[in-house]
Amino acid sequence: MTRQYGSLRDEILTAVDSVFKSGRLIMGENVERFEEEIANYLGVKHAIGVANGSDALYIAVKSLGITHGDYVITTAFTFFATVSCITRNNATPIFVDIDEDTFNVDLDQIEHVLRTHPYREKIKAVIPVHLFGRTVDLERLEYIKHTYRVKIIEDCAQSVGSTWHFSNGEIKKSGSVGDVSILSFFPTKNLGAHGDGGMILTSDDRIADFCRIFRVHGARVKYFHEVEGINSRLDEVQAAILRVKLKKLDEYHRRRREIARLYNELFEKFGLTQHIVCPSLGRDLDCIFHQYVVRVKKGHRDNLRLYLESKGVETAIYYPLGMHRQKCFSHLPSVELEKTDRACKEVLALPMFPELREEEIEYVVSCVRDYFREVCLC
Ligand SMILES: Cc1ncc(COP(=O)(O)O)c(C=O)c1O
Repeated sequence: MTRQYGSLRDEILTAVDSVFKSGRLIMGENVERFEEEIANYLGVKHAIGVANGSDALYIAVKSLGITHGDYVITTAFTFFATVSCITRNNATPIFVDIDEDTFNVDLDQIEHVLRTHPYREKIKAVIPVHLFGRTVDLERLEYIKHTYRVKIIEDCAQSVGSTWHFSNGEIKKSGSVGDVSILSFFPTKNLGAHGDGGMILTSDDRIADFCRIFRVHGARVKYFHEVEGINSRLDEVQAAILRVKLKKLDEYHRRRREIARLYNELFEKFGLTQHIVCPSLGRDLDCIFHQYVVRVKKGHRDNLRLYLESKGVETAIYYPLGMHRQKCFSHLPSVELEKTDRACKEVLALPMFPELREEEIEYVVSCVRDYFREVCLC
């Protein structure tokens, strides 16, 4: 973030200065322009700026009329907001397990639930998450949407601009297939604001209209409230900054992919793949590496993490506990998700940002090699 700011400082300060000079800090020209630019970039008709990705999800679920008595299928291997948007709308999540190779929700299991669940009629939607920037099979999502007549809400908080190559040669971006989709501009995201921000995406005029008024207290005309909405607006300063960064986004994605390729090559070269399972690169921008997450086998994850920390390498665990095991969701029907539980014990996110230097990547991998040499003596 700081390195990126260094290279964009002049452009960002100019953009912010022009907002301050205009005196229009809320719902001004930058939000409007940014909404148009992001809608064009992603191939959707409408983009509606909101205060953060969590609000975007909450409003997206509401826009589909999902409420008490309804069910929504999703993954438990995700950030809290993917699930709280369902429960905050008084509906019930149905968790299915993940695909072990991609960490994304297992689409076979989604279809199985849609075919066999006793309350099938009450399942109104599916929320897939393009986790760590890796697109869920959009062609299959379209098939599920049409075959089972369920709504799709794509959680693209980690995947802005990631693509999927369809069998007919078409390339679509994540967020363009769902009935309604969302983005997060949390500072660490691939397209990160200098504060909070989020976006709702849809090509449905009715959904767009609902979301536009819901974010401003449900009022189309000020002080006349059609629905009981909330205050959730993207502010002008963040929109101005995000417009600067959007222009560089594809370049950043390509750099992230280069970094991932280098990590993979080095883990292979140092013979570490018996301990470390690397993520696959996938086709072109099908994965934009919001995070570079490896699996650390045979119970070494936590010790390796401590070792790396002692060497000055910052890592993170996304996620240490599945949503099906969270205390706040303990009232939900219990479910066994073996692959999710295993991922929670094995995943480790290594440093990943476009400005990461080659020698820093080499250093991280050499520290992993030293751990397995010195600490394990194997
Ligand atoms: C998968 C996922 N969904 C939703 C969100 C919520 O976004 P925000 O932090 O902008 O509220 C995040 C953010 O971390 C996320 O990673």
